[in-house]
Amino acid sequence: MKAAAVPRATPPPPATDDPGGPPPSCHTLPDGQAILLRDVTPGDAPLLLGLLERVTGDARRLRFFTGGANLAAAAALEARCDDTDGPRLGVVALSADGGEVLGHGMCVPAGAGTAEVAFEVADGYHRRGIGTVLFAHLVGGARAAGYAELVAEVLPDNRDMRDLLTASGLAQTATTSEGIRHVRMPLGPAAPERGARA
Ligand SMILES: CC(C)(COP(=O)(O)OP(=O)(O)OC[C@H]1O[C@@H](n2cnc3c(N)ncnc32)[C@H](O)[C@@H]1OP(=O)(O)O)[C@@H](O)C(=O)NCCC(=O)NCCS
Repeated sequence: MKAAAVPRATPPPPATDDPGGPPPSCHTLPDGQAILLRDVTPGDAPLLLGLLERVTGDARRLRFFTGGANLAAAAALEARCDDTDGPRLGVVALSADGGEVLGHGMCVPAGAGTAEVAFEVADGYHRRGIGTVLFAHLVGGARAAGYAELVAEVLPDNRDMRDLLTASGLAQTATTSEGIRHVRMPLGPAAPERGARA
């Protein structure tokens, strides 16, 4: 998913601030670490901006297809909770004490019955299953919201994202244009999803 230019630095608020909304759910990663998942709320833009500012330039390139994304605008978009164009789903992964944001995933309307997914996981927490848990959560939410299909735009060198989508067990069809891999995943009936460990 693309975004425009010019980052700025803003101190993130503590992740422990009560965001309101439903309480978090607890999940256990394959290494035994517990994490919390909760829905994104409109007040989360500073928290999400902090996460985007802390990841490496390469992680931002993989997320936004440019190293110079406007992170404040991207975080504001990630925190949107209105359903103007269709249901928007956002989820944050937090440390077990709620004090640290470890990842974020979202699902935004992308045409009739279709939503686009995107993620970022904090540096130092990759390849521990957080992205998989976020994706499983979004798949369930997208089905419940009535979406028939998910799409993802992935750079061809983004092996972790490609593996994550493949390992989800969802059927995929992919095309590549202008150097971006467009992956379409129909949401059939619910089946046990990899990473759906509550
Ligand atoms: C893509 C991204 C979100 C994946 O998040 P992640 O938390 O690292 O993903 P996971 O750990 O769930 O899975 C990725 C791979 O890590 C490995 N992995 C997962 N759990 C693991 C574990 N316990 N031990 C070892 N490896 C593990 C696996 O190889 C897995 O691939 P698999 O599904 O084939 O098993 C993350 O790498 C990221 O933030 N990248 C930068 C931004 C980006 O690319 N966003 C996506 C663009 S839309």
